[in-house]
Amino acid sequence: MEIRAVAPGEVDAVRDIRARAFGPLPDEVWARRSRLVRQAAEAGRQFAGFDGRAVVATGALLDMAQWWNGRAVSTAGVSAITVAPEERGRGLGRRLMTDLLERCAGLGHPLAMLYPATTRLYRSLGWEHAGGWHHVDLSTEALRTIAAERVPVRRAGPGDAAEVAAVIGRAHRTARDCGPVGWPEARWREHLDAPDVYHYLAEDGFLSYRWAEGNAGLEVLRLVASSERTLRALWAIVGSGSSTAESVRACVSPADPVLWLPREREHEVVHRSQWMLRVVDAPAAIAARGYPAGVAAGVPLEIDDPERPANSGHWRLEVADGEGRLERSTAAADAVRLGPRGLSALYAGIPVTTLRRAGLLQGADAEALTAVFAATPFSLDYF
Ligand SMILES: CC(C)(COP(=O)(O)OP(=O)(O)OC[C@H]1O[C@@H](n2cnc3c(N)ncnc32)[C@H](O)[C@@H]1OP(=O)(O)O)[C@@H](O)C(=O)NCCC(=O)NCCS
Repeated sequence: MEIRAVAPGEVDAVRDIRARAFGPLPDEVWARRSRLVRQAAEAGRQFAGFDGRAVVATGALLDMAQWWNGRAVSTAGVSAITVAPEERGRGLGRRLMTDLLERCAGLGHPLAMLYPATTRLYRSLGWEHAGGWHHVDLSTEALRTIAAERVPVRRAGPGDAAEVAAVIGRAHRTARDCGPVGWPEARWREHLDAPDVYHYLAEDGFLSYRWAEGNAGLEVLRLVASSERTLRALWAIVGSGSSTAESVRACVSPADPVLWLPREREHEVVHRSQWMLRVVDAPAAIAARGYPAGVAAGVPLEIDDPERPANSGHWRLEVADGEGRLERSTAAADAVRLGPRGLSALYAGIPVTTLRRAGLLQGADAEALTAVFAATPFSLDYF
């Protein structure tokens, strides 16, 4: 198998293998989907494994950012990993993922993120479960009764891509969010052009929603706002649909302020899908993210990362004043020992006590690291 970038003129070559992996792609669906594949190909980010002329594997590395404590960290979104059904179980999936991990580093992404259909393949290459993509079921009527004043809001379309990206970025930065993804403007243009999705833009907030459940309910794809006033106003727009849509399934963080707005809150249905993280370049990833205010620590680390040897060795982690850095060091008897899975999970805020009992972290007492990396990571995007 030869793995190489797919040329923009070749994108139809991945349609059949993607259909065999994820379900049928009739013409009208492929017409839309292939626009994103072409975008990835044009950026040199759509890859395929070829056996002669036959495509036997595919994968894309989307150009994203991921917010960590309010700072955007350059991240590869690993997407649409496939191996042709007749070639599975012979190691092609692992070869593809090993190759793509190198390419993530080559493209300058300190982090990589993916939604796993199976954990085993990715764990074996240093990925670990890190955060969730949550959907909460809400009553539309409860949203309608949220007190809101009118704020200037307008319908948004593809021409608003840059402003939408900027408004969302500001909201995640000011909320010091961990986990949500940021897209380049070109990807936003495609999102904002999706059929039957309604977009509203305010000065400091953005809403996307569509009909769901055979038009008996609504689905909020994204609602972010920096101020209480805009947050209330955008949820009120969703709630205004209560006469025709009884329920709303909303993609929100488990700590989203909307859950603290309705008068009643008791039983809650939360759907959660897991995503995994891979620290690709440890010093760059540590330097790029934000850290909680008032937290300081100096901890010796010993990292063993066979797939990314540049991460391996003795380090000292220094965190102070919201900044972190990883510096080369000599062996220390009191070092905390981690592999790439432990490091990736720690980066995502999984507590040290969990990591130690899961066998992902060993060595000296490292409780300070729980406060350093404290996070409840969420995503608002599936890819
Ligand atoms: C998942 C997929 C890419 C794996 O490709 P593959 O060539 O069969 O994988 P490999 O032979 O390299 O196997 C790598 C590891 O993954 C494991 N694995 C592969 N498919 C698996 C599955 N369906 N369930 C659980 N583990 C699986 C293998 O057992 C192996 O682990 P091991 O060495 O510990 O036994 C392939 O099955 C596929 O295309 N599936 C449909 C689409 C899909 O699910 N893509 C992943 C989206 S995140």
